[in-house]
Amino acid sequence: MTQDEMKKAAGQAALEYVTKGSIVGVGTGSTVNHFIDALGSMKDQIQGAVSSSEASTERLKDLGINVFDANEVASLDIYVDGADEINAAKDMIKGGGAALTREKIVAAIAEKFICIVDNTKEVDVLGTFPLPVEVIPMARSYVARELVKLGGDPCYRQGVVTDNGNVILDVYNMEITEPKAMEDKINAIAGVVTVGLFANRGADVVLVGTPDGVKKW
Ligand code: 5RP
Repeated sequence: MTQDEMKKAAGQAALEYVTKGSIVGVGTGSTVNHFIDALGSMKDQIQGAVSSSEASTERLKDLGINVFDANEVASLDIYVDGADEINAAKDMIKGGGAALTREKIVAAIAEKFICIVDNTKEVDVLGTFPLPVEVIPMARSYVARELVKLGGDPCYRQGVVTDNGNVILDVYNMEITEPKAMEDKINAIAGVVTVGLFANRGADVVLVGTPDGVKKW
């Protein structure tokens, strides 16, 4: 079974959490694209979606799914999104697709975070995947120096501008043993919009695509 087939299985499995008449929080990435495609089959049974990126918005609209502005919605039952890494405590690294800030906002609005991944994303300790940090452009060098003080090796993601007009620093060589504390520390640096650590608001349900089917934990 390929990695993409495992992503697809996890994306399709998330459909069972979608309730009729609801507005669904939708993340970003190749795994979520499978969920969006599956959601298309339910488009007449839901009110629509709140999206975490321009890319997901376009895909949702192409399928005829109504996309609401986050400001129009008081709450969401579920938010479905992928991750770059997830540990046993359901803390995640996200932002490989540079959509981390909007993802964190939509996740915050939702009651339940359904994380959909393939089995390559499960880790004991977060940090092998370089940790994305969205930064206001004028603060890029300052934030990079502060990240070095925290033990990381930040690298400017060349040529990428986020949907919010900011830049991304990817931080290498961080062994993140205390994800909540690290999330708070990095978010406190002036010029950081948000870090791609989702620990203070982690996942609630994890659906993992494996060669033996979708595992839920
Ligand atoms: C985008 C994300 C994605 O959820 C993460 O990068 C996983 O992507 P994929 O499903 O393509 O492996 O955080 O900002």
